[in-house]
Amino acid sequence: MSDKAVLTLEGKQYEYDIHTGSEGERCIDITNLRKETGYITMDEGFGNTGSCYSDITFVDGAKGILKYRGYPIEDIAENATFVETAYLILYGELPTADQLRSFSGALKEHAPLHTNLKHHFSGLPSDAPPMAILSAMLNMVSCFHPDILEVHTSGKGFDKSAALLLSKVRTIAAWVFRMAAGKAFNDPNPNLSYCANFLHMMFSDPYQEYIPSPVIEKALNLFLVLHADHEQNCSTSTVRVVGSSRANLFSSVSAGVCALWGPLHGGANTAVIQMLEEIQASGRPVTDYINMAKAKNNTFRLMGFGHRVYKNFDPRSIILKKAVDDVLQELNMQDPLLDIARELEEKTLADSYFKERNLYPNVDFYSGILLRAIGIPLNMYTVMFAIGRMPGWIANWRELHDHKQRISRPRQIFTGSNTRSYIPLEKRT
Ligand code: ACO
Repeated sequence: MSDKAVLTLEGKQYEYDIHTGSEGERCIDITNLRKETGYITMDEGFGNTGSCYSDITFVDGAKGILKYRGYPIEDIAENATFVETAYLILYGELPTADQLRSFSGALKEHAPLHTNLKHHFSGLPSDAPPMAILSAMLNMVSCFHPDILEVHTSGKGFDKSAALLLSKVRTIAAWVFRMAAGKAFNDPNPNLSYCANFLHMMFSDPYQEYIPSPVIEKALNLFLVLHADHEQNCSTSTVRVVGSSRANLFSSVSAGVCALWGPLHGGANTAVIQMLEEIQASGRPVTDYINMAKAKNNTFRLMGFGHRVYKNFDPRSIILKKAVDDVLQELNMQDPLLDIARELEEKTLADSYFKERNLYPNVDFYSGILLRAIGIPLNMYTVMFAIGRMPGWIANWRELHDHKQRISRPRQIFTGSNTRSYIPLEKRT
């Protein structure tokens, strides 16, 4: 098979190298295209554009495969804690017992927030959007650690930055919730696991220590593991774009939080529950909403359906669907929204509109129900996603530096006015 792609342009031929990834996926390297031909490529939304070579996560959307550093998501979800998963994503290997002890120790050490940072919460309105606070606070953490503001991609500097972010994102998230609820902040408890500590900071009260059931702790762990990385999605690409200017890790992940916020990306888990609640409150049949999503002149979309990459099924949604069933059963909980979700899934899977467009439930479709069962309030869902995605953002930021990626700077095709002369104010109509 030829390892060159040949492009014919204006009667002239140009050859471009074909590169093959370790899972057999192929790309045409057009790095020299503009220099050689004067042309650029147009790929709105970057659906066909590779922006980097990466060793971290592999996704095969057609086959529904997701692997972290070579380990299938099903295997990791079944066996690993979020802390082990984060280590794997950051450092490329599952930790040994000693490495895990030291990594967990660093997470415990960095869990508390600086007292002055704590004061910033008090100036915010209680209904401030949690994602705005999270993004701002993550950026602000760096103000209290000037030593890690420099770009560290290895050694102690990187280890500290990574542990600090992974740990503090959890404390900030819990305190955002406490602030909005008008409740006192709970300091982290170093004797608890990563997930139990988060739940303690969220839900303990002065006279009532929150002790999560093992089912809840396991469910939260699973949620975080499933969100830990997903190759070059919107927020991770944002982190890479910001990092490519050699911006520090904190500002880069803070931008990632903002990209995640939108309802077409991480905000979808909130939008799914809002949609299910609306269907429930309306009393209208589920098919009305399906028809609305199909109508050409209606912008309504079924939240939690469709994915840029998965065109068959999202392996994370299959794991989550089963986990939701198990958790509700073990906790003996009924959730009427789950019944609506099941009906919606069943009817869309049988509908030709959704079949033709390969629209299947994505990770957000069931994650909202799982978060409800854990007791997480709706306005915190996307924040939960951000906690989970932190290892992926950090690992991608580090990798772009290790690979000495050029600054991201796409081109455009200009469609505006040609040259015009300035019109004095009195002559403008
Ligand atoms: N409901 C109804 N129709 C849909 C949906 C949906 N959820 N998603 C896509 N379509 C239709 C589009 O209208 C379009 O139809 P057309 O060909 O007749 O014009 C076709 O399917 C292709 O849609 P695109 O927008 O081109 O797909 P794209 O890959 O750009 O978007 C996205 C993917 C953003 C996930 C989209 O499917 C969507 O908006 N889904 C709902 C939001 C959501 O759940 N987002 C979470 C994604 S997962 C994550 O970020 C963790």
